[in-house]
Amino acid sequence: MEGYKEIDSEYLELFCGHLYKTMGIFVEESQKPVLSQKLSKMMKEYGITDSSQFYHMILSPPISQRQIDMQKKFTDIVTVHKTNFFRENNHFEFLKENIVNIVNKSESVYNTGELRIWSAACSTGEEPYTLSMLMKEILPTTVRAKILATDISPDSLKKAMMGSYVFGPEDYIPLEYAVKYFTSLGDKKIIKDEVKSQVTFRLFNLMDPFPFKHPFDIIFCRNVMIYFDKIVQENLVNKFYNAMAKGGFLFIGHSESLMQLKHNFAYHAPTIYRK
Ligand SMILES: C[S@@+](CC[C@H](N)C(=O)[O-])C[C@H]1O[C@@H](n2cnc3c(N)ncnc32)[C@H](O)[C@@H]1O
Repeated sequence: MEGYKEIDSEYLELFCGHLYKTMGIFVEESQKPVLSQKLSKMMKEYGITDSSQFYHMILSPPISQRQIDMQKKFTDIVTVHKTNFFRENNHFEFLKENIVNIVNKSESVYNTGELRIWSAACSTGEEPYTLSMLMKEILPTTVRAKILATDISPDSLKKAMMGSYVFGPEDYIPLEYAVKYFTSLGDKKIIKDEVKSQVTFRLFNLMDPFPFKHPFDIIFCRNVMIYFDKIVQENLVNKFYNAMAKGGFLFIGHSESLMQLKHNFAYHAPTIYRK
């Protein structure tokens, strides 16, 4: 790699161990060159030539703004943020068909008038905003959607909170939603406040104990478990189970499965599970 001081292989291994321990991310052998490249590039950007110094800057408690920035950037570059509005749309179609049933069985709706939804690993916000728009369309007017959207990546969350997007070819947004819930500013589409106000964004590592007092009716955890190994997946799925209301639904990514994990969810449909 011209112009780069590549990260030492010993430190690459140490970083892989660190990712697994702190974020649950298991770096496959085939992905190590990609990680090496990302870390080497970051070292260059910060003018660091010594892998050991870089490693310690990332792992040790920060003592300067620069180190805080580095640690945030590290989290951003080691995670994959690909997402789209209405991604894996059959999940949203499922909600359209089943929302009345979900609402009628929800204790939270009964007690508070709120349907509790969690977009766990929300990346840049397209998933929770899709849920928010959808809920505006399909929830009975007596029920409010309360959507928590969390991610470990500070940069993704910042973008999510801004709610400003340039629609790409992979962003399928039904025209009526695009017209109703976005305003245009140049080539940007800005999500409207009525959609934003139903979503609360928080920085949260899925490896941490869940601090939630009230159970969720719906949890979306899509396209993040693929980066975890079976042990981490199983732990996480069981944490979701405990954080969910009886009868609640868990949605996972299309390329993910709970098949080889020990858990208590009932299979409902492909990539949809129920407590
Ligand atoms: C590919 S995106 C998925 C976004 C969205 N759920 C979707 O399916 O379109 C994966 C997200 O998982 C987040 N992530 C990775 N490890 C995490 C962890 N341990 N805790 C919380 N979020 C994590 C990443 O920062 C990234 O934004």
